[in-house]
Amino acid sequence: MNNATPRTPITPLNAPLTRLFERLLADMDHRESPEWDAQDSRLDPAVYCDPALLEREKIQIFRRLPLCLGHADQLREPGSVLARDLLGLPLLLTRDRHGEIHVLLNVCRHRGARLIAGEGEVCRHQGLSCPYHAWTYELNGALRGVPKPETFPTLDLAARGLRRLPSQVRHGLIWAILDPAQTDIDVAGFLGGIDEDLSGFGFETQHVFRQHARRRATNWKLMMDAFQETYHIKRLHAPTIAPFFPDRNPAGEGVGLHTRILVARDRLPEARTLPPAQWDLRRHATLTHAIFPNSLLIYHPDATSHMGMFPISPGEILFVHTLFTPHAPRDEKELAHWERTFAMIDEGVFGAEDLFISEQIQLGVASGANDELVFGRQEHHLRRFHANVAALCRGPD
Ligand code: FES
Ligand SMILES: [Fe+2]
Repeated sequence: MNNATPRTPITPLNAPLTRLFERLLADMDHRESPEWDAQDSRLDPAVYCDPALLEREKIQIFRRLPLCLGHADQLREPGSVLARDLLGLPLLLTRDRHGEIHVLLNVCRHRGARLIAGEGEVCRHQGLSCPYHAWTYELNGALRGVPKPETFPTLDLAARGLRRLPSQVRHGLIWAILDPAQTDIDVAGFLGGIDEDLSGFGFETQHVFRQHARRRATNWKLMMDAFQETYHIKRLHAPTIAPFFPDRNPAGEGVGLHTRILVARDRLPEARTLPPAQWDLRRHATLTHAIFPNSLLIYHPDATSHMGMFPISPGEILFVHTLFTPHAPRDEKELAHWERTFAMIDEGVFGAEDLFISEQIQLGVASGANDELVFGRQEHHLRRFHANVAALCRGPD
């Protein structure tokens, strides 16, 4: 295929996604969706700016659950290393010479120096060497050698490999638990029903087209909120994507801690004339997976965005946006097409609209103007998300 708008193959719908699609079609005829909730609801704005709450969120949520840290295609070649500080932990993501991916602490086991100071760029390394006294490590974390080993007569050098975090590549995505005291990780069990959804999208063979990581002045939950309601699409996104979406309630449901949400696109009526095998999650609707606590997958017409929100403080996140494409661009037209897509989504929709308004809200909630915030009936999925956060934070230490 040699054209300017590459198509992504239609993803076969599993039973839960078919049910959501049927709900969207049924809702087209009704002004009020059957999903309408009886009540609006309230939220204490302190959840976005309380430093003590963030500490509990870190302990009870971010250090316990598998987090998606990226895509295996970012570490395409053996010897690839990516340093990134997340949740106060200096991390190394590596692909060793056998092709295996590891998540290690970027901290020397001699006297604790950071091995790689530069963050966020994938580099190629044969091994890792500490800048202080030059202890060297394999890319799987094993200690390779120390200068003047006779000066450490009692030390078990074999036990001084870099600390490893439990990690797993599943659906092409790199997952890890940010607690070196834990040893096991079960991503499929954690994802529950979402695991089967993801298996239909072929992420394993997808291409990481671009990644953009930056600090933004918002609480991490505000960006999770922004992608679990459709009330703002026609308003906030008027300059960009609003024309593609009717102003409807989404069809969504909780899946354990996670949420799958299907949002109607303007082409949804076309699906009525088609057999279910032709219903297209990317053309007739836009699917979002909100993977608890801090990941979002958004399925655009011919590419997929992953967003990770990593808290730095109550009012600041590292925001990491990655665009996956079905394959690497095969010609200049495909390259230009996905460059335009990335610029529009990353700088326009996310940067100038969703992140912008989240930063404005952060200033607003910290001002004391509101004793409570209000969620309307088109924003009801946010209630479940905040209830899940609160329940986990209340749990035992
Ligand atoms: S602190 Fe790394 S070699 Fe000494
Ligand atoms: Fe938005």
